[in-house]
Amino acid sequence: MSKPKILVARSIFPETIARLEEHFEVESNQGDQSWSKTQLIDKLKGKQGAFTTGSERIDAEVLAACPELKICANMAVGYNNFDVDAMTACGVLATNAPDVLTETTADFGFALLMATARRITESEHFLRAGKWEKWSYDMFAGSDIHGATLGIVGMGRIGQGIARRGALGFGMKVIYHNRSRLDAKLEAECKASYVSKEELLKTADHVVLVVPYTPASHHTIGAAELALMKPTATLVNIARGGIVDDAALAAALRDKRIAAAGLDVFEGEPKVHPELLQVPNVVLTPHIASATVPTRRAMADLAVDNLIGFLVHNTPVTPLNPAVLASK
Ligand code: GLV
Repeated sequence: MSKPKILVARSIFPETIARLEEHFEVESNQGDQSWSKTQLIDKLKGKQGAFTTGSERIDAEVLAACPELKICANMAVGYNNFDVDAMTACGVLATNAPDVLTETTADFGFALLMATARRITESEHFLRAGKWEKWSYDMFAGSDIHGATLGIVGMGRIGQGIARRGALGFGMKVIYHNRSRLDAKLEAECKASYVSKEELLKTADHVVLVVPYTPASHHTIGAAELALMKPTATLVNIARGGIVDDAALAAALRDKRIAAAGLDVFEGEPKVHPELLQVPNVVLTPHIASATVPTRRAMADLAVDNLIGFLVHNTPVTPLNPAVLASK
């Protein structure tokens, strides 16, 4: 029997390709070329499975052009690159890569918060530019993390990881806002109290965003929300571009309406709003929150487990639209 055909849309670990090749006929983009939608469709035609990252948009147009496609396995926990409803309607399984990146991403959220509040990159640029001539009492004075109030918007697994780091490691008071309130046991474990979004923005010293991107969460933070925040507050976005109105944020940073921001994700990335590149009080990183070698390996492995699980054994590990399985 011939092996199912798989497309690997981006460059990935050679070991990942080797694992896939044990079960599939694999075409891979190891040269990591940027494909247009038309090129993606051409490559996907005749394939039963796709190994995707958050960069490939799988929508009704792609699905209509690729009727053999049965599964797209995202090597990311976020899946706003998938039109899951359209995939379900076409009987295409969607899978993501949750859990394996939770602690690594929470570590990074905390690192970005600390770098932002303590002005680490801004001061490093100053030093590298040869501007450090003498000590002064207020040189790069930032804000404290320990004992401060941490406001988390989006209290899924990663949000909870950040809450635990803040409460247990740094003695922070943790407040959170989420679509639904956590049960009492989880709240106690995270030492976190549920508040309205408005109260969170008004009272937090540091706001960390970890909400998934959906049309409803578009611009969760815009000019009106930034205006509620303390002028000394910091804002960290490790969620998705589009959760923050980047133009409004750049203006708030420029006018010092909030103290600082740390951003790992951007509207329209890899492009970054030009005004964000001009303001000094922002730490900018290129969407690397889950980027440690062991975690990226675990994410790739989970995507492979899903492809093998579904196409070989009909038991994917982390399906997003299990209705597709039920209808088989
Ligand atoms: C990264 O952004 C992910 O969704 O895994």
